[in-house]
Amino acid sequence: MGEKHVVRFEPVGIEIEVDEDQTILRAAAEQGVQLMHGCKEGQCAACKSFVLEGEDIEHDSYSTFALPDYEKEEGQTLLCRAHAYEDLVIELLNYDEEIIRSGLPLRTGIVEVEAVNEVTHDMRHLVVRLVEPEEIKFFPGQYMDFQVPGTDETRSFSMANTPNRDGLFEFVIKVYPGGLFSEHLAEKLQPGDRLTVEAPFGTFTLRESRTGDLVFVGGGAGMAPMLGLLRSMAERGVERKVTFYYGARTIRDLCFSDELAELAGRLPGLTYVPALSEPRTATDGRARPD
Ligand SMILES: Cc1cc2nc3c(=O)[nH]c(=O)nc-3n(C[C@H](O)[C@H](O)[C@H](O)COP(=O)(O)OP(=O)(O)OC[C@H]3O[C@@H](n4cnc5c(N)ncnc54)[C@H](O)[C@@H]3O)c2cc1C
Ligand code: FES
Repeated sequence: MGEKHVVRFEPVGIEIEVDEDQTILRAAAEQGVQLMHGCKEGQCAACKSFVLEGEDIEHDSYSTFALPDYEKEEGQTLLCRAHAYEDLVIELLNYDEEIIRSGLPLRTGIVEVEAVNEVTHDMRHLVVRLVEPEEIKFFPGQYMDFQVPGTDETRSFSMANTPNRDGLFEFVIKVYPGGLFSEHLAEKLQPGDRLTVEAPFGTFTLRESRTGDLVFVGGGAGMAPMLGLLRSMAERGVERKVTFYYGARTIRDLCFSDELAELAGRLPGLTYVPALSEPRTATDGRARPD
């Protein structure tokens, strides 16, 4: 544990205490303050903010695509990589009043694998059950971090299901050849295996106070959070118009088609639009004749 400093976020006027050993984003999440974020690894820029007061900040490694040097010199920072070494005032450039105060507590837990099934040739449906703690709360669309067995590395995966009393969590995971977690999932993970997890993360959730039309755009394993949101809307009878554009290469890369058709029956406002970049490739991966 390092020294602690006070970080105030403007224009929302929220103050948190941040230990020098943790990032500002992490400290906020632990204190139930849900700041905008995506990768948590300095790659996506979703957490980019402006330092209004204070200078003593150190950053863990990050991509200069997410924070170019000139932006850093102007006073911008990535909260997922920033450590405070004095009291700071930070202006949030990207925030949502409805989300920021709705943060659920971060929990570390153990889950047990219930099933790993193929949904396409390179995507798996992973179902796990919570062993401890008794509950990890999440909003549909959020994600969980899994520790890769035998390493200190973590990988993030979006919940494809909705919160439930059985402590089940479902994921759609793309298998990358040589991928540290996904290859382990495809080749080694068995029902009964236990994994260390932490959740909930992410701000891709339905803004309940709004009524406008929704457009979801996803591809590949990006099916998972969309499915989570659509299942949640169907369970709760949300009647907003929603168009889901799903990108895939070929017809054999499409998944959950039956369930999406069933969801369309329960959500009259849902239009599902699969978009194939190689529509002439058949289900066995070969080119179809003209
Ligand atoms: C917020 C969030 C949510 C996510 N949700 C999902 C989800 O729901 N489903 C999902 O499938 N994924 C999701 N991801 C991606 C996921 O976290 C992993 O990044 C992904 O599964 C790859 O992890 P891996 O350990 O299998 O592969 P890694 O070991 O990280 O490698 C990925 C690929 O890159 C290659 N590679 C590795 N290192 C190098 C290198 N140095 N040079 C070149 N190539 C390299 C590997 O061979 C492999 O093909 C999400 C990511 C984020 C940030
Ligand atoms: S969350 Fe992606 S750069 Fe900070």
